[in-house]
Amino acid sequence: MTTPISERLDDVEAARESGRRKMDWAAQHMPICASLREDFEADQPFAGERIGMAMHVEAKTAILAELLAKGGAEVAITGCNPLSTHDDVSAALDAVDGVTSYAERGVDDEAYYAAIEAVIDHEPTITVDDGMDLVAAIHEDYPELVDTIVGGCEETTTGVHRLRAMDEDGELDYPVFAVNDTPMKRLFDNVHGTGESSLASIAMTTNLSWAGKTVVVAGYGHCGKGVAKKASGQNADVVVTEVEPRRALEAHMEGYDVMPMAEAAEEGDVFITTTGNRDVVVEEHFEKMQDGVLLANAGHFDVEVDLDALSDLAVDTYEARDGVQAYEMADGRRLNVLAEGRLVNLATPIALGHPVEVMDQSFGIQAVCVREMLENGDAYDAGVHDVPDRLDKEVAEIKLDAEGVAFDSLTDTQAEYMDSWQHGT
Ligand code: NAI
Repeated sequence: MTTPISERLDDVEAARESGRRKMDWAAQHMPICASLREDFEADQPFAGERIGMAMHVEAKTAILAELLAKGGAEVAITGCNPLSTHDDVSAALDAVDGVTSYAERGVDDEAYYAAIEAVIDHEPTITVDDGMDLVAAIHEDYPELVDTIVGGCEETTTGVHRLRAMDEDGELDYPVFAVNDTPMKRLFDNVHGTGESSLASIAMTTNLSWAGKTVVVAGYGHCGKGVAKKASGQNADVVVTEVEPRRALEAHMEGYDVMPMAEAAEEGDVFITTTGNRDVVVEEHFEKMQDGVLLANAGHFDVEVDLDALSDLAVDTYEARDGVQAYEMADGRRLNVLAEGRLVNLATPIALGHPVEVMDQSFGIQAVCVREMLENGDAYDAGVHDVPDRLDKEVAEIKLDAEGVAFDSLTDTQAEYMDSWQHGT
């Protein structure tokens, strides 16, 4: 049986202090969560509820977990990736009234899934996932809990993809909000968050420059657009690979070189995968790459770069730097994999994940979605649901207000005009 993180650390007090400092810093830059916290502390919308969470346990996520607990919930949380947990933050979170944290960095698969089970043992009435691990485990191993679960929220593209597939097969037995897909999340978190934090993490981990490099971005979706734009902004030449014709055309019209990975493999200095798919960079590509290339993945799972094939090709492998594993080929070329092919912005030793401001938006949406499930859960059947537009706007307005940005509103005449089909030329 997995125990909370506090029972597993040698110097738990020091860990808590360090983790709390990180949380306090994040909280200072999260005006949306601060505003919601005021409301939730007063209204206690989650009183009596148990919220199970499987997310990247670092400072920003900790602010969300604390926010839900301040709103009256009993929260149990673990990681959604074995390398993205910050143990000190996990310990600080475990010390918050109403929160139990099981997350620990670097655990093996068995301990990772045992921690998910420990969260489920709390018998959550709401689940908050990043990658669908909780929903999957509950449906597979604890179907008896489904009846008491009001609903769930899913943070990332890959989780929403899996949920939609499950829903289409008629296998999803409770309602889940596709938090990822709502504009206040996807247009900021996936684009700016992934772009900025992936490039920062690669640069800090390698101490190498972007200027003059050829950066191959696999996938020109939300994350890929952010990575490509920011790499271009750092004076790199950007090459895009795609499988979707309109996305490929969009990249071409933005001025990027678009080509198949088989050709890009010869050109790139840095490869960043953002597809949410598997086997995007494989043996035939490794064979063509130049000496010294960097291979990084920003998609959710560690299956975009075929590390088994790379291991098989390598005559030697060694840790070139913290967070960088070099694979030496028979002809002497070294191909360098960052963060074991896991989310590069979250899983390198120095990785901090997305910028705080971006996560304030994503977690503001999560928090109002949990509130919506509890207030109006009956309105949602089992299946995947879009976040209601009014909630997305609510969070945008809190953020604009915090930034001191004023904006216009429609006059009555304009509103009537926009709603009317009778006004023509
Ligand atoms: P998206 O669906 O907007 O974009 C994915 C793109 O990859 C699509 O245009 C698709 O056509 C393309 N693609 C699929 N297979 C491909 C292949 N074999 N070669 C080239 N392109 C291919 O998805 P989004 O929102 O950009 O998310 C992508 C991944 O990043 C997901 O796994 C998501 O969970 C993850 N993600 C990671 C974050 C991070 O912090 N690193 C943050 C948000 C999402």
